[in-house]
Amino acid sequence: MQHVIRQYNLEAGSLEVEYMEQYFGEFAAPKTAAELRQRLRQRDHLILISLAPSPEDGSHWIPVAFKVGHELHAPERELLGEEPAIADLSRRLRDCVAFERRRIFYSWLGGTRREWRQQGHYRALTEQQEEWAHEHGYHQLVVKTKNRFYGMRAALDHLQFDVLRFEPDLADNANSKVYLGKDLSADLLRAHLTARHVSRAA
Ligand SMILES: CC(C)(COP(=O)(O)OP(=O)(O)OC[C@H]1O[C@@H](n2cnc3c(N)ncnc32)[C@H](O)[C@@H]1OP(=O)(O)O)[C@@H](O)C(=O)NCCC(=O)NCCS
Repeated sequence: MQHVIRQYNLEAGSLEVEYMEQYFGEFAAPKTAAELRQRLRQRDHLILISLAPSPEDGSHWIPVAFKVGHELHAPERELLGEEPAIADLSRRLRDCVAFERRRIFYSWLGGTRREWRQQGHYRALTEQQEEWAHEHGYHQLVVKTKNRFYGMRAALDHLQFDVLRFEPDLADNANSKVYLGKDLSADLLRAHLTARHVSRAA
């Protein structure tokens, strides 16, 4: 199967992701287009959406999975910016991610709509993100999830992300955070499994 992926610019992509996020019961606070634009407008980023034929009309392709990531700088630099959440993230990763002279790409948001899960959409988006990030000079991908997101943890395990840090939530261990990462290399790209057709949205 060839996955059909579209890469979006920020204006159109933020609206697409806002639309997609409504389909995910797992997300307590779905992100809005305005939040995406606020976070991404001044940093390198990548918005990818995977398409599939609509069940009602097979000639019409609809968005079924998405993945959004952005550059993450060292804590000292993020502290100078206007995004406290990113500065906090960077600070928490300080002891397990080598920022010096390395470019770090943070895989921020993503998911596959329920009816299209287990069909390789998330693997295809992850592999595309890895390829893009490697081509753009990044050295490592980083992602954050929570103990209670078993499906995501399982998927990240299959996608060979390594645990970088565990941050316990003593009040509720289900909310403990897990940070994972993967080094990017030509060998990694050669091991990719999905066939993908990628186009840029107009
Ligand atoms: C996790 C999620 C993104 C997986 O999407 P998907 O499109 O079904 O994933 P894929 O089909 O590409 O699967 C990728 C790999 O992970 C494995 N995998 C995916 N979901 C899995 C699950 N629930 N249990 C076990 N393995 C799973 C697949 O078997 C596959 O492995 P393989 O390629 O080695 O065969 C999707 O279930 C989802 O959106 N979940 C809700 C989002 C969420 O929980 N977010 C939490 C915030 S971090």
